[in-house]
Amino acid sequence: MIKIVLFESANDTSGTTIEAKVGQSLMKAAVGANIEGVAADCGGTLTCATCHVMVREPWLSQLPAMTDDEDGMLDFAACARHANSRLSCQIKLTEGMDGMQVDLPASQY
Ligand code: FES
Repeated sequence: MIKIVLFESANDTSGTTIEAKVGQSLMKAAVGANIEGVAADCGGTLTCATCHVMVREPWLSQLPAMTDDEDGMLDFAACARHANSRLSCQIKLTEGMDGMQVDLPASQY
């Protein structure tokens, strides 16, 4: 198991730490931990963009490049995308992501 820290807003300085299995997606880990800021309406089929997150460095640079499909779907995210925006259903967790810090958008709708 690894730990991921999710921040609900700029005012959330401590974040919420969840435990996640290596190999599962960040989205599945967040939904399994009842993180309300990750809706994931499509269940990970890359058709909803309600699993939008912003990944902090240094973890962002360690992620595989996003696919064209992820890039295109991010344009439909409810909150404006940022340079560090990703869809959490497309992030497969690895041991190297232990401690990863992720910001949640203000809304997924
Ligand atoms: S869960 Fe729908 S695009 Fe990620």
